[in-house]
Amino acid sequence: MLDWSEPTANPAAPIRVAFETGEAPIADATGLGAIERGGSRVRVDDKRMINARADVNQLLPLKYRWAWEKYLSGCNNHWMPTEVSMQADIALWKSRDGLTEDERRMLKRNLGFFAASESLVANNIVLAIYRHLTNPECRQYLLRQAFEEAIHTHTFQYIVESLSLDEGELFNMYREVPSITDKAAWALKHTQHLDDPDFRTGTPEADQAFLRDLVAFYVIFEGMWFYTGFAQILSLGRRNKMVGIAEQYQYILRDESIHLNFGIDVINQIKIENPHLWTKAFQDNVRTMIADAAELEAAYGRDTMPRGFLGLNAALCEQYMYFIANRRCAQLGLQPVFAEAENPFPWMSEAMDLKKEKNFFETRVIEYQNGGALSWD
Ligand SMILES: [Fe+2]
Ligand SMILES: [Fe+2]
Repeated sequence: MLDWSEPTANPAAPIRVAFETGEAPIADATGLGAIERGGSRVRVDDKRMINARADVNQLLPLKYRWAWEKYLSGCNNHWMPTEVSMQADIALWKSRDGLTEDERRMLKRNLGFFAASESLVANNIVLAIYRHLTNPECRQYLLRQAFEEAIHTHTFQYIVESLSLDEGELFNMYREVPSITDKAAWALKHTQHLDDPDFRTGTPEADQAFLRDLVAFYVIFEGMWFYTGFAQILSLGRRNKMVGIAEQYQYILRDESIHLNFGIDVINQIKIENPHLWTKAFQDNVRTMIADAAELEAAYGRDTMPRGFLGLNAALCEQYMYFIANRRCAQLGLQPVFAEAENPFPWMSEAMDLKKEKNFFETRVIEYQNGGALSWD
């Protein structure tokens, strides 16, 4: 059963790390090094989030059950964008007065933001995080997450195709629309030095750089910026507009909630194992990152909704961002960065209560090709 409760600053799994004595030596972090013939068996206490001290190629014994549970939840939530009917959306998009110009502008920019962002997030997982997160159960989840990001990118391809949108306009928006470029460029700044082939974790500076990447992508990109994006589209869906896209966004939101919670658990676990990294100066640094990101999002809100429309405008999105930013701080055990803000979109939590089995499969039968149905023709 999927647990929607957000993780707190202290993950529930019991943690016992023997820092004091008998610490295993640093192990090969990638898992692609020479095999240690006759190497001793993995001891659960030697497993680490970063700077491996146990063979990263052995999933068992499990240490971080929360990571394994998230992998199972991700698998249970499997969906494909093409299972959602786009007929109503196509009719509305093509009708002359189905959507206002303001709604069209918001919708297109929202799609443009997500279309490239899903790829940025996927690239960061595969090319930066995977290499330096040295725990096999976390890597198992990262592999699942990477596939989900591919499904999300597929969603935007499917929407572009269904509505006959200009694919170049949409996918290139992150280089053409300044309020989108500013967000992408801000996040990329935090992953670019991990892209340096000589980058290695193992020093406090490098480990903190890795933590900053996790904050930028999991907490801010997926955990803050995506959330106003979801609110924009789900707000349309609540008014019975673009209901196919809104349904797809609900599935993406469900996936992203787990991505966010995984990232929070990873950061908090790294803190527990490496308390020397979580200095006052570093905490201030993370709080500044979160505050700056909220301001970038407010600018994006003003750009995508210069006039606003029923139930949604830039000021409400800005308030929502302040509410979310404070919530993310609390999840990381940090002081809030903004004055207390009320959630202007309480219906967002209902949107997250989606039960796929109930309202998705009830009306149609989906048969995935499995081993028993394989055709070898
Ligand atoms: Fe995604
Ligand atoms: Fe994600």
